[in-house]
Amino acid sequence: MSSEKTNQSWGGRFSEPVDAFVARFTASVDFDKRMYKHDIMGSIAHATMLAKVGVLTNAERDSIVQGLNAIREEIEAGKFNWRVDLEDVHMNIEAVLTERIGIVGKKLHTGRSRNDQVATDIRLWLRDEIDLILAEITRLQQGLLDVAEANAETIMPGFTHLQTAQPVTFGHHLLAWFEMLSRDYERLVDCRKRVNRMPLGSAALAGTTYPIDRAVTCDLLGFEAISGNSLDGVSDRDFAIEFCSAASLAMMHLSRFSEELVLWTSAQFRFIDLPDRFCTGSSIMPQKKNPDVPELVRGKTGRVFGALMGLLTLMKGQPLAYNKDNQEDKEPLFDAADTLRDSLRAFADMVPAIKPKKDFMREAALRGFSTATDLADYLVGKGLPFRDCHEIVGHAVKYGVDNIKDLAEMSLEELRQFSDKIEQDVFQVLTLEGSVNARDHIGGTAPRQVRLAVERGRKLIAER
Ligand code: ARG
Repeated sequence: MSSEKTNQSWGGRFSEPVDAFVARFTASVDFDKRMYKHDIMGSIAHATMLAKVGVLTNAERDSIVQGLNAIREEIEAGKFNWRVDLEDVHMNIEAVLTERIGIVGKKLHTGRSRNDQVATDIRLWLRDEIDLILAEITRLQQGLLDVAEANAETIMPGFTHLQTAQPVTFGHHLLAWFEMLSRDYERLVDCRKRVNRMPLGSAALAGTTYPIDRAVTCDLLGFEAISGNSLDGVSDRDFAIEFCSAASLAMMHLSRFSEELVLWTSAQFRFIDLPDRFCTGSSIMPQKKNPDVPELVRGKTGRVFGALMGLLTLMKGQPLAYNKDNQEDKEPLFDAADTLRDSLRAFADMVPAIKPKKDFMREAALRGFSTATDLADYLVGKGLPFRDCHEIVGHAVKYGVDNIKDLAEMSLEELRQFSDKIEQDVFQVLTLEGSVNARDHIGGTAPRQVRLAVERGRKLIAER
């Protein structure tokens, strides 16, 4: 059987070509070609190392490196012909290399297997993606700091159970999202350390008989460490699962944030306006302006959770070492990274353009007895035990509900029905400003604390 009919990379022991459908079914080139740059990077490092240890001559190395660089340019110019019959990105590039530079091209794979090659490529690819994602998180956080600073004194109702709870500043509310994103950032930085370990040199599963120097390839590829066991090196996909886990948490945060933006833009809340460029209309209802970007991000969160579940399930039954199952790692991983990056990008563009409707926020904070806790705290200040104060204020609120009056709208006489400890000075604590200004400690909602938190946030970002 001629080598044209069977695959030239492994056709030697085969007596008939692979079935046409099976060839398509087992091929991964349609999706793994996006790792071409990292595949070429890995191959150049491998060839350079092989020359250094004397397995290749310098001339052979140079010819391989030149050939690979030319192929990269061709791919980037959109002129490369990807062939499904060559299965994956690795064999496509190697086959064309051999076509171009001749027999030397076949020497590139000395001391290497596609098993350690692909594991290396994914790690290099993911390392780059993480860096892009980290940059988007930072951009979004900067936007949050700017809007928070501009709204350090803007008052809105804070909620628990989605019922009006206590007044908070809009800046403080936005900085809650900043905190979550800081943890997402930390998680990805930590995950990157374990992504950035080099499996190259594990070969198929047992290592190689050639005198390879893994420290050289590690250095050339900018890895932080070399994998310590060849069986683990080719089969470990923890790093991808860990990334999807960190990505899922980040998406969960964006999804919650989205939900608030959807609520806030509704006619029932009217807390904010999103610029038209982040919204779309309805083909039937002319008045509609829908918050599509947050809705879509909320929806896309499911894809990333799905990728996490998919990868966990992919790995759970696999014996050591490499199994073809592992080819299924790429699509969920790529999709999770794309989804997170795009969602962050959309948010980073949108958040600085959020326009708070301060009057409506204020009006909502004035409704719903949001300063009831302040009244209780005021009575504690007059010497009553908190539980009694809670009871007293409960009666005042009941009276307010029956008479459609907020606490600050009641006269001193009305308030004194509930406790004679209440005096003229009560009205300071019942105002929204009094309420937020009183919460003046680290992590509190007072405008002064918002400004301090913005300062801390800017410092944190500057140190990244
Ligand atoms: N396309 C394969 C993957 O994505 C590359 C490794 C294949 N190795 C093998 N021995 N079949 O995992």
